[in-house]
This record gives sequence, C-alpha cells and structure tokens, in this order.
Amino acid sequence: HVFRLEDYRPSDYLILETSLVFRLSPEATRVTATLTIERRDGVAASAPLVLDGDGLTLVRIAIDGRELQPAEFLATPDQLTISQPPSAPRFQLLIETEIAPAGNETLMGLYRSSSVYCTQCEAEGFRRITYFLDRPDILSVYTVRIEAKLDEAPLLLSNGNPAGSGDLADGWHYAVWHDPFPKPSYLFALVAGALGKVADSFVTMSGRTVELGIFVEPGKERLAGYAMDALKRSMRWDEEAFGREYDLEVFNIVAVSDFNMGAMENKGLNIFNDKYVLADEETATDADFANIEAIIAHEYFHNWTGNRITCRDWFQLCLKEGLTVFRDHEFSADQRSRAVKRIAEVRTLRAHQFPEDQGPLAHPVRPRRYREINNFYTATVYEKGSEVVRMIRTILGTDAFRAGMDLYFERHDGEAATIEDFLKVFEDVSGRDLSQFALWYHQAGTPNLTVSSTHSPAAREFTLEIEQSVPPTPAESRKRLMHIPLAFGLVGADGRPVAYSGVDGATVEDGVIHIRKRRQVVRFSGVAERPAVSLNRGFSAPITLSVEQKADDQFFLAGHDSDSFSRWQAFNTLLTDALIAAFRQILGGGEPVYIARLTELAGRVAADEALEPAYRALALALPGEADIARDIGKGIDPDAIFSAREALALAIAKANEQAFSSLYDRLADKGPFSPDAASAGRRSLRNILLDYLTLLPEGTELAARHFRSATNMTDRAAALTVLAHRHRGSPETAKALADFEAKYGSDALVMDKWFQIRAGVPGPQTVETVRALTKHAGFSMANPNRVRSLVGTFSSANQTGFHRRDGEGYRFFAETVLEVEKRNPQVAARLATALRSWRSLEPVRQAKAREALLTIASAENLSADLRDIVERTLA
Ligand code: ARG
Ligand code: ZN
Repeated sequence: HVFRLEDYRPSDYLILETSLVFRLSPEATRVTATLTIERRDGVAASAPLVLDGDGLTLVRIAIDGRELQPAEFLATPDQLTISQPPSAPRFQLLIETEIAPAGNETLMGLYRSSSVYCTQCEAEGFRRITYFLDRPDILSVYTVRIEAKLDEAPLLLSNGNPAGSGDLADGWHYAVWHDPFPKPSYLFALVAGALGKVADSFVTMSGRTVELGIFVEPGKERLAGYAMDALKRSMRWDEEAFGREYDLEVFNIVAVSDFNMGAMENKGLNIFNDKYVLADEETATDADFANIEAIIAHEYFHNWTGNRITCRDWFQLCLKEGLTVFRDHEFSADQRSRAVKRIAEVRTLRAHQFPEDQGPLAHPVRPRRYREINNFYTATVYEKGSEVVRMIRTILGTDAFRAGMDLYFERHDGEAATIEDFLKVFEDVSGRDLSQFALWYHQAGTPNLTVSSTHSPAAREFTLEIEQSVPPTPAESRKRLMHIPLAFGLVGADGRPVAYSGVDGATVEDGVIHIRKRRQVVRFSGVAERPAVSLNRGFSAPITLSVEQKADDQFFLAGHDSDSFSRWQAFNTLLTDALIAAFRQILGGGEPVYIARLTELAGRVAADEALEPAYRALALALPGEADIARDIGKGIDPDAIFSAREALALAIAKANEQAFSSLYDRLADKGPFSPDAASAGRRSLRNILLDYLTLLPEGTELAARHFRSATNMTDRAAALTVLAHRHRGSPETAKALADFEAKYGSDALVMDKWFQIRAGVPGPQTVETVRALTKHAGFSMANPNRVRSLVGTFSSANQTGFHRRDGEGYRFFAETVLEVEKRNPQVAARLATALRSWRSLEPVRQAKAREALLTIASAENLSADLRDIVERTLA
C-alpha cells in the first residue's frame, strides 16, 4: 500500500479521552482501553468506526457498558471495525486486548528489555497495544493505570503527573498517571521494572519546581550524572533562547539497552537507548559525551516542537524533526564552540544526507508518498530539515525568525500542524513571500551552483556568474528553480573584506546573495583590486558548489578566510582535489597535485595557536574514504581511494614529524578528566596527531604506549583504533585487543566500541573476522546496538572490507540483513541502506552488489520495511 500526502482527510471520529489499564505479565499482558469517542461535526451517524491494530488479539469489547455481539463488530489482528456505532454523538468504547511483551523482538509497541517493560510507539507502535485511531492528528487526554507484581516491577511509570499508587492483593501493586495535555498516541509511553533512580529538580522561569528523574539499570546511577546535567542545561536554554517553559510536575528519562533508535520524546517520559545516557571517562568517549548532550536536548526540546505542537500526518515529520534538530544544533553551538559545531554538522550532512539525496532513496524533506513510514526517519528529514529551518533564519534575520517562532507557538499550541502552517508564521511576521523557498521542503535532490568570477580593473567591477541546477531524483525528473541564500565574502589580499559601492543582478542583503533564477550575473561596482571570493559561508545553503577558482585563491582562503567554516572548507576542498588526483593516478591517469603545499599548510594549521585545538583537529582530518567516493561520483574502486588517502596522510606525517611529535607531547592531559569542549578539543587534536605519527617508523610502539598510558576511553579507543587499523597483525595490537576485551568484556556498551574497531579494520580479511565475531559471546542479533556496532560499522564504514572485490562482503551482508529481519524488520531495513550507492561502484563490484540486493529482494515473507528499501534501491 502506498500512502499519499494528497489523500489526507480528517477522521470521522475523535478520541477525546483515553483511559488505559495494564495488567503486566511477560507472556500475557491485559490492556483495557476505555475510549471516549465523539463523532466529528457533520459526519453521518452511519459512518463506521474503523480502528488500527497490528497483530492484536481481542478479548472483550463493549460500548457504553454493553458487551457487543459478534455480529456488531469485526476484529482482525490489524483492524477493528464497528459498522454501526451508536447514533449518539458521544459514546464510550471499551476494548480489552492481550499482548505478549516478552516475545516482542521488533521493539515496537510494548516489549521487554533486560526484564524491564517499555514501549516505543512512534510512528505506528501504539496499534500493537490496543485498537486505536493511531494517527498523529487524534489528540487525546490519557489516564493510565499500571498493575504489576511488586517484586517484578517496583517502578511503574507513564506520561504526565503521578495520580495515585498503592498495593493490591497477591503481591501486586499499581500506579496511576494522568497527562493533562492532549497528545497523539505515538507519544504514549509506559515503563515498568526494577531500575535505579537519579533524582534532581529544576526551577522553571516562572518559579515552578519540576522533579527530574533518570532511571537506569540498578548500579549504574553514577553514569547518569552527565545526562542529568545536560537535561538541566537544556531546560534553561529553551527558556532563554525560545521562551519555552516546561509544563508538567515531573520529567522522567529511562535508559533501556534494546532500542531501535537513539531516543524518544514521549510526553514527560523520554525513553533512551542507554548508550545516549550512560557515561563516565572510563567508558565513554568525548564523542559519546557530545552525543548524550545533544540527544538529551533534542528529546527535551520536542516537548514544544513535536508534543505541544505535533504533526497532522507523517508526511509532516520534518515539522517536528527538522525543527528540533535545528534547536539541538543551536543548543550545542551555544554550549560548545559554534565554529567547530558547524563544521561537524556539515560533515555529518555530507556524509549521510548527500548520498541519500544523490541516490535511489532520495526524497523531499517533506515526502509526498511512502510505503513504510519507519523508513523516512532519514538524514533528509532530520538533517536537511534542520538546514531548511536555518535558511529561514538566514533569510529573515535572527529577530524576525524569533518572532516567527513565537507566533508559531502561540498560534498552533495544542494542534497537529503542517509545513504550510510553519511557513505561514514566517511570512506573516516578515511580510516576505516564501513560496519559492518552500521548494526546499517539496523537491528532492542537492542543488548545485556553478560559479565563475571576473574582475575588470579598468571598470573597477567584480562579477560573479552563478548558475543553479537541481539534479533529477526518483519520480522527479523536472525540477523548479530554487531560492538559495548564498552567504559570501569578498576577501582582499590583506585578509580584510573588500568594500564595494554598489551591486546589481541579485538581491544582496547582510552578506547573502539571494539566488532565485537559473542564471544570475551579480556585478559589484567600485572594486579596485581582484578579491578572492568566499562562497556559501557558514554553509548557508545545503548545496554543492562548482567554483572556477584559482588554486592560489583557495590556498589563500584556507589560511585567511575570516569565516571559520569557509576557511576549513577551503582547506578541505584542496585536500579533496589532491585525493581525487591521486586516485586517478593510481588508476593510471593524471598527475598528483598540491602535495607539498598541503603538507606545509597542514603543519601551519596544526601549529596555529590562534585556532582552537578542536578546529585544528577537524582541519587535519582528511576527507573520509566515503566522502572522497561521493565527490568522485562514479566508477568507484575503494581500494584505490584507500591507497590515495594513506599516501597523502603519510606525506603529511613525514613532512611534519618533528612539529607533530612535540605538539603531541605538549597536548598530554594534565590534571583530572573533564568532558568539557575545550578539554575534548585538546584530546581530539592530540589523537589526530597520533593518527599521523603512527604511520611513521616506530608507530606501533607509539600507539601501544598511548594505549597503555590512556586514562580515559577517548584516548584508549583512539589508540586501539590506530593499532587495529594500521598495525594489524602486530603483537602489540593482539595484546591491546585482548586486554581491552578482558577488561570490558562484561560492559556491553564498551564492547560495542571493540566490535566497531574490529569491524572497521581495512582490507579483504575483515569480512571473515566480522563473520566470526557474530558468534562472539558478547554479540547478539537481537540487540540493535550490537548489530549496528558490528554489522553496521562493517557495511557503512569499512570501504575496503565491505566492498571486497569478490563480493564476499555483500554476501555476508545479505545473509545478515535477512537474519536480523526475522526479529527486527526496522533495524534490518536501516542496515540495508548501506548499499544505496551501489550504482556509483566500478562495474565488477556493482554487479556483485546488485546480486546481494536481489538475494534480499527474493527472500520469502519479506517485511514491508525491508521490501520498501530494497525495491527502491534497485529501481
Ligand atoms: N522521534 C524520535 C526522535 O527523533 C525518533 C523515533 C523514531 N522512531 C521510529 N520508529 N522510526 O528522537
Ligand atoms: Zn526527534
């Protein structure tokens, strides 16, 4: 079945109130739902009531206290139809269902994870609990009573505020929760089990005290301190940056070890993958700390962007996700370094969203059709969705943007809204017409700008010729012209901005050229000297650029652009150019370029004390193998890319050995560990220097020493990565891997790092290692974190291993995807996207990759999730 945006229509019935009683038991949980149903105004009394289900067993059904006769309803596992509901406009429907959480390996609906009952309802998991109008525009007020055996589940949580608890007969007890805010069913949550609690409180801007709780596996309370701190900072930040105050008496977070995604924003009861809650220096890296901070913030921010204002239908997913990602990006930028954060965001966007947008799975930020909504929790909806919100702010300016957000909260609070509603508030506060801009939501594909420049000293005129194009994407061969806000700077020989007296050919405001036509010639008058032009500053638009630029200008910008993002970009572009030239040379054509100048520039950047260490680390990180492949575009031979990249790294290391080595020594951590951004930045610079230095003679000893002397997981994991990836087969590596396993064998989240490192070892032998590791005692096909660490890393981050020329990597991949699918279709479908760029491979690998996709496609009883991904990938 295909769902289409244009088919939206409001439901005939509303569910004003939802009362749920759960009697929890692993194999047979009874759920009694009492729904206050109202026929919508103007709907005929004869309209049937059709509720969604998914694998349900009906036990009992009654309306207004009267049991229904078999002829009065039709219940299948996937639907409940009452063909003649009462003629009264309002009635009470009671539904009792029985479910088996213990056997639920899909991790959707109600399931058990390490003896804890928990739920995941977004997008369509609530229908696995009871029959319901399981769609986001049905807002209902929930009261939830949970009954469980006291010894099995001393803790009983749901959404909203506590509303009573007590003991029952036979060692059972109960708790009642009431959520006064009407909400869609996807935000329902329940947790029950034996968990440890970290308690704190927060006083809101209006002076209300909110009780905060983070619940974790007993004994791990110590590891939740950083998450709690991040939560309190998030709550304060949303008040200051957006005027948003928390609205319930309690806010709870629960960490579970089996979770399909990162986390979930259920009203007042966020549920998290434990890897985004638990951290200390011994077990978590700096990247883990940063992720925890960002995801705690993201889920908290959903309370307003997602929960108070939700989505009319799932086509509007970006309304809450793109906006909330934008908010968490801004939060992290304020908590850490804005410049560094922006570069990291763009690297993520390019690594995940660009290939999606440029391949068979491309879709608009607001899709118009889907077969399986779970497959649309994508980088396009989230990350590009965030970039679209950022562009609105760029176009309107900070103040008008904030006014628009204020109006959005005021106008749509308590509603299920659309992208049109969202755009309208910005039009209303600014008086601007955003209809061309709206194409960013509706049109898939990464726009490209081709730019060339000329300078006429005689006319004192500098000219930019800019041409836009949007490449075709599946189901959209013809594209309309977009409104692209292109931030720019004209940079003089002294590094200062070059003044101009006038401009024509485009609207230029606040350092932004507004591109709206296919071709625009922008003339700057009064420009005496030829400037270097810095384009798409701050990554003002999520586009690709083809700039005809002199290498000298590019090197100049890499050393002098006052916009730190563009300065990083200039260096990165030069590195990419050099890597692509080296790739071509390996395949038998072309000449190497820039090597000496780049090694020299790398040395200068590393030593530049005026730059933050974290920034220097990002600048020194060579484009990844997948980044290079994406920029090459077609005929990809991952082995040649790998060799090209290693050679450039070695050249940089050799040319800077002394300087890198003494800087490495100076950067050693002194004093106690702190996860703050500046300390993390120093560690990241030191670890990238380690990466270079271990390419040189005695690199193995250096890495082994780094490993042995590490006092935190960031350094330990960095050293183990270098050992395993560069010094495979050395006794030091074998010892370090064994020591790590011995020390952390019982800590699943830490072992995930060990699986990741081993799955990432370059070279043809890794497929065998990974296959063997699926039998490791610490591995489980049923746990999403384990699967992603081992199989996910291998297939999406190990270019030379996965793309082994004989296709063995793909064969392993097809087998494993099908194996995971038996338990968890959602995780399998996500895993399967690793082959989305198969058409850009060279012909031999391309044919083998296609075979693997066909193997998956022809498997029996394929789930809707996996079928959708594989069929679109092959189309
Ligand atoms: N809303 C959650 C978040 O962005 C993600 C939930 C995804 N769920 C799913 N079934 N795909 O934090
Ligand atoms: Zn989200």
